[in-house]
Amino acid sequence: MRIAVFGLGYVGSVTSACLAKLGHDVVGVDPNEYKVGCLARGESPIVEKDLGGLIAEAAQAGRLSATTDFVAAVKDADLVLVCVGTPSREDGSLDLAHVEHAAGEVGAALKAHPHFATVVFRSTMLPGSVEEQLVPRLEAASGGKLGKEFGVCYNPEFLREGTAVADFFGPPITVLGVADEKSAAPMRALYADLPGELAVVSIRTAEMLKYVNNAFHGLKVAFANEIGVLCKREGVDSHEVMRLFCADTKLNLSPYYLKPGFAFGGSCLPKDLRAITHRARERNLVLPVLDSVIRSNDVHVQRAVAAVERAKAPGRKVGVLGLSFKAETDDLRESPIIRVVGALVGKGWTLALHDAHVDASKLVGANRQYLEAEIPYLDRLFHKDPRDVVRASEVVVIANGHPAYKDVPSWMTEGQTLVDLVRRVEPGDVVRGEYVGLAW
Ligand SMILES: NC(=O)c1ccc[n+]([C@@H]2O[C@H](COP(=O)([O-])OP(=O)(O)OC[C@H]3O[C@@H](n4cnc5c(N)ncnc54)[C@H](O)[C@@H]3O)[C@@H](O)[C@H]2O)c1
Repeated sequence: MRIAVFGLGYVGSVTSACLAKLGHDVVGVDPNEYKVGCLARGESPIVEKDLGGLIAEAAQAGRLSATTDFVAAVKDADLVLVCVGTPSREDGSLDLAHVEHAAGEVGAALKAHPHFATVVFRSTMLPGSVEEQLVPRLEAASGGKLGKEFGVCYNPEFLREGTAVADFFGPPITVLGVADEKSAAPMRALYADLPGELAVVSIRTAEMLKYVNNAFHGLKVAFANEIGVLCKREGVDSHEVMRLFCADTKLNLSPYYLKPGFAFGGSCLPKDLRAITHRARERNLVLPVLDSVIRSNDVHVQRAVAAVERAKAPGRKVGVLGLSFKAETDDLRESPIIRVVGALVGKGWTLALHDAHVDASKLVGANRQYLEAEIPYLDRLFHKDPRDVVRASEVVVIANGHPAYKDVPSWMTEGQTLVDLVRRVEPGDVVRGEYVGLAW
């Protein structure tokens, strides 16, 4: 393919050299004459392992050139990749000025373009940037229409500086946000020989994913550093601890606990987070990440209360299905839904409750104590059949994943609202009435 790459920084120069290596004809574009000169001489404009050799080889083979003339670069291109910078403004917001300017140039160059070309944005941008800001810019500058004269994709870049070339040729996953299949076709072909899954998704999903990745990477670094500081103070070998932590690929390094759902609870997580952060405070250690975990969880509990409060329910009747913090247990200790129930009672709601494993009359020990302290009136609110709870309610809350609750949508009627805290209802399930997912 003939490919124009806008922006010859870290992402653009690695992308250009690697695509030329795969056999494509690549033209790099940048207003920076130093970077254009480097590529034209077959030299790398940045310090990056293996890049110098790749650029020299591609330039010599005539598959890689560079120019400051964007019209010449886009002429005849099948694909235009935009890899210009998207820096922070002073207030932290994202500055799209460079990418908007580049979209204007690409659009202007597409005016005289002889055939359909796909414009692929690779710069990191917040959801909506491509569809709401850059597509209109392309259409205005080119006089053409997305899907007719040109296509658009968003292809986030996951390379790490220092191993960027190896990352390009060995991606664990390649993600393609596409406007339509016609836009996607040349990109599928471009990546056909690379290993790993090729995930074709919406443009907004692909834009978001880049931020999710980086937020998680930052969180991991900050978490590991805080654990390190605490371990050091406790006389514990932090590297040994983290090596063992990473060896658990069932719960620790795994998809477990990474699905948006309801707040955590139970007999361990809240208690142990309190203990460890209390110990850190005793030691005068400042651990903002660990300190904020309980606070974040509390806010999530309040979100559930707010979701019920927002529902249309003139009689203020709410049914809650699932009281234990996990579906297949009767453990009520620090179950976050109990706090939601308490808050709703305080706000004047009439409640109906069901839990397959919690029979208020049979509760003993710690569970009974917990319940008596939190919601002593619970016995009166219990129903044996979850269908009775749905019938008695204007708003129905599913709070744990018990299998019986799968059928809740079919028991509901128009006018009722279902607040799903645990994604018991899946995409495609038909819900009568209004459906509210807590974080989806
Ligand atoms: N550096 C990384 O490791 C990395 C990884 C993934 C994603 N990203 C994202 O990729 C984007 C580019 O990052 P980078 O580190 O390569 O940036 P960079 O600042 O190194 O390079 C950007 C280049 O774009 C050029 N440019 C500006 N306006 C232009 C225009 N109108 N036409 C052509 N070229 C133009 C600049 O002169 C510069 O050379 C950013 O959005 C960044 O967040 C970077």
